[in-house]
Amino acid sequence: MVSAVVSMKRRPGPPSPRANRFFGTASRLRRNPLRCMQEFVDEAGPAAKYRFFARMWGYLFVHPDHYQYILQDNYKNFTKLPGPTFRLLYPLIGKGLLSNDGDSWLRQRRLAQPAFHRGQIQEMGRIMTAAAERRFSRWERAARAGEVVAFHREMMEMTLEIAGRALFSVDLTGEAREMGDAFGRLNELFVKMVVSPLSLYTMRVPFWPSTRRVTRDIGGLDRLIYSMIDRRRKSGAPGNDLMGMLLSARDEETGEGMDVKQLRDEVTTLLIAGHETTTLALTWFFYCLGRYPEIEAQVQEEVDRTLNGRMPTFEDIPKLVYLRQVLDETMRLYPPAYALSRWGNEADVIGGFSTPGNAIITLCPFITHRSPELWSRPLEFDPQRFSPANRSDRHRFAYIPFGAGPRQCIGEGFALTESVLVAAAIAQRFRLRIPDGYVAQVDPQITLHPKGGMPLRFELR
Ligand code: HEM
Repeated sequence: MVSAVVSMKRRPGPPSPRANRFFGTASRLRRNPLRCMQEFVDEAGPAAKYRFFARMWGYLFVHPDHYQYILQDNYKNFTKLPGPTFRLLYPLIGKGLLSNDGDSWLRQRRLAQPAFHRGQIQEMGRIMTAAAERRFSRWERAARAGEVVAFHREMMEMTLEIAGRALFSVDLTGEAREMGDAFGRLNELFVKMVVSPLSLYTMRVPFWPSTRRVTRDIGGLDRLIYSMIDRRRKSGAPGNDLMGMLLSARDEETGEGMDVKQLRDEVTTLLIAGHETTTLALTWFFYCLGRYPEIEAQVQEEVDRTLNGRMPTFEDIPKLVYLRQVLDETMRLYPPAYALSRWGNEADVIGGFSTPGNAIITLCPFITHRSPELWSRPLEFDPQRFSPANRSDRHRFAYIPFGAGPRQCIGEGFALTESVLVAAAIAQRFRLRIPDGYVAQVDPQITLHPKGGMPLRFELR
């Protein structure tokens, strides 16, 4: 266990990987942040102090003990703002739940929490399977024609529809493609900006090409979100979905409702966080099934035995034990949130290494989930790691696809319900085939995308 009680003076900073004296590691990080972070760990160990650019330093921590300290034991020292990652994301998600901090975050989190209670999620199950079912006839046609489809896009449009209907009672099917494209462009652009030391300055220059593109895409999304809020406000009935809860929330002291900008930030955050990562979990899940036919056969056997031809329901989830193990193993090797970012406010001691105040701290579950010190045969796809018997003898922070501590994902239950139900519905009807010669590569944007959008072929079972 790590302790901050030890005198900081006697503690050294973490070791440093090699870096250019002036240009640091910025260009390496920009080329491939994930490979570069793995190299830092190979060269310096699980705690690394790397020269980002000139005299700007960053700190990378990948040991489960470090996660426990940063995300839980002393989480108040490790905030989202004013760190550069969240400052860059500010124009898109503002001070929504994901990026907010302190009392304001706690108030908003408590406000949104009831929408994610088990009872609410149970109600949403039907919305989730219906969204998959609506696509079946199109996917059957694609299967008969032997077409290769952009599977990531298929999953993205479906999960966006689910998030819209389940959380905000709106039908986004008409807008899904356009919104998805805008999110995709922003995702790509933001990750380039996060690893570019200049972007914190260029983002303030309105005519800079990347600033113009961001402004245009966010403008389009804003029009849609504000009109969603406006329509619901005018309808006179708040409703009992997440939008209703946000609209009827009142400040305990002043009795005032949330201002429209805060509402916009929450809705945008939940819409993005509510579909983007689940899309990736499902996309990588079917890629893994395509790669491992014996595992696919076991999933199909379980799904057939449990469902007997009908659509899955919330009550089936506890019976789909093996499918869930496959999902967990998928998120071990391909965690959608592959890196987490924090701002270390005060000087601290993490895992015996001192860090200064105002430090950029990065955590990388992707590296931890593949660490040979924590996992035997780490690169092998083995769902048995997540069998009830094997789960218990693991460090609690060795596997954190949903983060940990007070800032752990609020949508975990929603995401797992959606992923299991949708995966079972699809696996009952289709196989996804990987075109000859295609090997998916990870594309570390803000989240862990597959390079080239994951071309797969539907096959009827
Ligand atoms: C497989 C799907 C998902 C994964 C892997 C995932 C992962 C994560 C992770 C790792 C965090 C913590 C980020 C940090 O500590 O910096 C997080 C936070 C969050 N997630 Fe998710 N998420 C998923 C689905 C969802 C869904 C479906 C929703 C909403 C419907 C959602 C909403 C949020 C929100 C609002 C936060 C911020 C919570 C806070 O700070 O209080 N996520 N998610």
